[in-house]
Amino acid sequence: MVSTEQIDLSKLPQHIAIIMDGNGRWAKKRILPRLIGHTTGVKTVKKIVEFARKLNVKVLTLYAFSAENWQRPEDEVSGIMKLLKVYLANETDNMINNGIALNVIGDISRMPEELQKDIKNAVEKTKNNKAMILNIALSYGARQEILRACKILIDKGIKNPTEKDFSDSLYTAGLPDPDLLIRTSGEKRISNFLLWQIAYSEIYVTDVLWPDFNEEEFIKAILDYQKRERRFGKIA
Ligand code: IPE
Ligand code: IPE
Ligand code: MG
Repeated sequence: MVSTEQIDLSKLPQHIAIIMDGNGRWAKKRILPRLIGHTTGVKTVKKIVEFARKLNVKVLTLYAFSAENWQRPEDEVSGIMKLLKVYLANETDNMINNGIALNVIGDISRMPEELQKDIKNAVEKTKNNKAMILNIALSYGARQEILRACKILIDKGIKNPTEKDFSDSLYTAGLPDPDLLIRTSGEKRISNFLLWQIAYSEIYVTDVLWPDFNEEEFIKAILDYQKRERRFGKIA
């Protein structure tokens, strides 16, 4: 058993990013439709957002829907869009009460129009909250984000950009890079997530499927992170 007390608060990752994978496999194991896996995954999202806030994590980034996920069957995609709508309707007040500012990264112009409005609304309503930033990656792809940043720099006439200029042109402008990147469900790949920002993130992969992920598994990831020596190319 692990507990919150084991966490060294002076070494808490400021920014945790999570590739929330495994909803489909969770459902398949139970001979249930994939969408039940996504519905159960939303419950984990609520739990983990609440817990990260309690721990005082400053930025939590959740990969919810990738640019490539649009290629899934139409009923799965529309089901996920509906779940997002319900999530925003249910959780915006909780975010306000808990000091959480919602930020969405990705090309939301591809989302249904009504959902775009809901997203903008929730972002607007929570924008003055200071305790934690909840970044949700929707219709997000890192390569697309990098190309978009290049276009922004070109439009600004910046011919010789610095790393800072580049970072400032990403969806994550102004945020610290993730210290810890968690992927559930065992796959050892990045799947087009935050390619620029994870240059020096510590990676933690667990076999636990996202709907089964919980506070205890989250603590395990943080404890594992706290054992690492981050060198950033230097020597001790
Ligand atoms: C992650 O679970 C959620 C999304 C990508 C939307 P998956 O749906 O990818 O679940 P698996 O990988 O098929 O188990
Ligand atoms: C990554 O999971 C995207 C999200 C978790 C939203 P995928 O299930 O789409 O990734 P691949 O296809 O296994 O690489
Ligand atoms: Mg998957």
